[in-house]
This record gives sequence, C-alpha cells and structure tokens, in this order.
Amino acid sequence: GVGALGVAINVDYIGVHATDLAGRVLVERRIAFDATAGGPDRCVAALTEVILEALRDLERRGAVPVGVTVAVPGLVDVAHGAVVLAPNLDWHDLPLGPRLVAALPAGLRVVVDNDANLAALAEHTYGVAAGTRDLVYLTGEVGVGGGVISDGRLLRGTDGFSGEVGHLPVDPAGRRCGCGRTGCWETKVGLAELVRAVTPDRAYGLESGPLRVPEERVAELHRRLAAGDPVALDAVAEVGRWLGLGGAILVNLVNPRVLVLGGYFATLAEWLIPAARPELDRLAVAGRAAHCRFVASDLGFTAAARGAAGVVVDRVIADPTSV
Ligand code: BGC
Ligand code: NA
Ligand code: ZN
Repeated sequence: GVGALGVAINVDYIGVHATDLAGRVLVERRIAFDATAGGPDRCVAALTEVILEALRDLERRGAVPVGVTVAVPGLVDVAHGAVVLAPNLDWHDLPLGPRLVAALPAGLRVVVDNDANLAALAEHTYGVAAGTRDLVYLTGEVGVGGGVISDGRLLRGTDGFSGEVGHLPVDPAGRRCGCGRTGCWETKVGLAELVRAVTPDRAYGLESGPLRVPEERVAELHRRLAAGDPVALDAVAEVGRWLGLGGAILVNLVNPRVLVLGGYFATLAEWLIPAARPELDRLAVAGRAAHCRFVASDLGFTAAARGAAGVVVDRVIADPTSV
C-alpha cells in the first residue's frame, strides 16, 4: 500500500506521523531537537535525516512512500515551498521545499505548509471537533498559531498567511515578540508567558529572535499547578483571560462553533478554560460567544504532523494517477 508522511518541525522537537490511505498509523515518533541552535542549515539537514529514516521505516513496513508534507511554525508560501518567516526559529525566506526536494529521493512529492493550518485540517478530520464546519484551531506552542476552518474549508487568504493569530497586536505596551513587534497575542498566551509565571527570574522572550523554553520549566509549571500553588494558579488564570480576549476577537471575526485548544493549551485546559470563558462571554459582541465552546484537542502534539500526512492522503485519493 501507500505511505503518506507528515513531519512537523517545532522549536524543540520534530514530530513524525505516517499513515496508509485509510489513515491507519504506520509510523509515529517525536524526536527532541533544538531548532533554535545552529541556524536553518542545521535544521534542513536534521529534517532530511528524519524524513529519510521515516521513508526507510515505511519501506520496511511494506508501504510505498508517495509524498511528505512538512509543517512549519511560520508563514509559508505554499506554491514555492518557501518559509517567509518563522519567528521563533529566526528563519527568513528559507526555500525549504526546494532544498528538501534536492536532498530527498527523486519523485517524492514535497509540500511545505503552516503548522496550525495543517493541525486545523487534522482536527476537522479526526479531532474532538471532527465534522464541525466552523472552527478555529489554536496551537499552544512556543508560538501561537491559528487554523481557521470556515464553512468546512481551510481559510488561506491572499498569500496563504491567514490565521496568524499569534501576532494579533493586543497590547501596545507589551513585550517584544519573536516577529520583532510588540505586544503580540503570543507574548500574552504563548509557552514562554505560561512558564514565566512560575519562573519570573527567567526573562524568556524579551529579545527578538529564536526563543526556546526549557522542558524542566514546563514540568515545574505543571507540578505547581497540580499542587495548587496560588502564584502558578493566578498566573495561568491571567494567561487564560488573555486567551479569552483573543478568543473574542476570533469569535467576532469568524463566528466559529468551536475554539480548539491544541498543544500546551490542551494540557493546561482545566486551568485555562475557566479563566478564558468569562472573558470570551464579556468581550464578544451580541452574545455571539454563547454559540462557541472552548474544547481541548485530543490529538496532543501530533495534530500538525497528522494534518500533514492527511494532505498527502487527500492528494492521492483525489488523483490516484499522481502517485
Ligand atoms: C507563527 C505561526 C505558527 C505559530 C505556532 C507563530 O509564531 O507565526 O506561523 O503557526 O507560531 O507554531
Ligand atoms: Na495559520
Ligand atoms: Zn509577533
């Protein structure tokens, strides 16, 4: 049978997910990798290695790899496979697609796309909100991304950059963002802010450029929340209120049925939603928020890679001669 491969590069790991045409999982892996060190060349080399290994795995399992989609935490010119900007990796105009094509076996179709857009497609197909025609998926990672499904379709926009919700300018007096601007939503609700709450001594994200949040800090946050530490609870509630404010902007703009919380947002949903919900109700216009729920994704950190594999599957199903 056919093997469809999805690979997601994040600030601190690479996720791999491959399925057959029926969506059965053939390969699933998470590899720790610091994408902020060593520049884009090192990342392209690591991605190439990870993809080659996954291709070998697929072949060992008797599947014929037909394509790979790479999910990137940034703005992607999908037609050219070029990453225009990945704020937290410090990539600017990186021709990732062409470089991977040159390094991978001839004939393998390579697509590059935005991580949150791909995750939204996965949610729409397999997730808790599967089948919902109007949803916004929110990536809770170091950066915050959005994938908007409107009337059953992924919203792309003129350049394919729609859903850059992490860079909604919500606080003119706020912190510097990885994108170079100030007070972006992800500086209010991104992982660095969540963790800063319990480690105020660490000034994560004060400078622009690559941003990484050590895993021990995330673990510490979870430990302190579970132990009922009031400082941690207050801090996460504050982040939850900012989540509600951004949610209200999205509700006013696209009137979704569901706001799906992915990544770290999902692991912290029991603390975030109770703070976000009243803010959403207070700030969205004309009671529109009443029609919208926050739900935690059940796809964990695999959503983007799953969506990436799904894009390959969809292409083969739509045009079997393309293989
Ligand atoms: C990027 C988005 C990405 C998100 C989550 C943001 O900083 O601008 O493109 O979807 O992080 O990775
Ligand atoms: Na997006
Ligand atoms: Zn920004």
